[in-house]
Amino acid sequence: MKTDIKNKDDIIVLVDAFYLKVRSDSTIGYLFTEIAAVNWEKHLPIMYNFWDNILFHTGNFEGNPMMKHRTLNLKSILTDAHFKHWTKLWKKTVDDLFEGEKADEIKVRAENISKLMMNKVIS
Ligand code: HEM
Repeated sequence: MKTDIKNKDDIIVLVDAFYLKVRSDSTIGYLFTEIAAVNWEKHLPIMYNFWDNILFHTGNFEGNPMMKHRTLNLKSILTDAHFKHWTKLWKKTVDDLFEGEKADEIKVRAENISKLMMNKVIS
């Protein structure tokens, strides 16, 4: 039986599972592994805080996502299809692991941010 996302430990489980999929994904994986050559030890804790802040208002995220993605877009063009695929993978990862109000919320929030980011980055 699946449960809802209750705390940061659950967010860690979700984010780890998501980026494990992303890394070997044939549509967007190369953007992380080859173009950005992400340092996962640094990036994952940033993402835990980002989502922890969104779901539980912890105020512990300091970053500039729009800037990071704009820089990435200058190195290698990001497309509508990339963002749609990112969102699809995110929703699938949430659904595989959790269900409930917070699980629904984190999917809606990701979709909204993804659309916003797409418009701000690709323009
Ligand atoms: C095609 C879609 C996307 C790609 C390829 C992508 C790729 C990346 C990469 C490579 C980084 C690391 C940059 C670095 O530290 O050098 C990053 C950071 C980040 N991404 Fe994405 N991303 C995508 C979509 C999204 C979406 C939809 C969200 C939010 C819902 C998101 C949230 C973030 C955040 C919060 C950071 C950390 C920013 C910071 O350190 O200030 N990304 N992304």
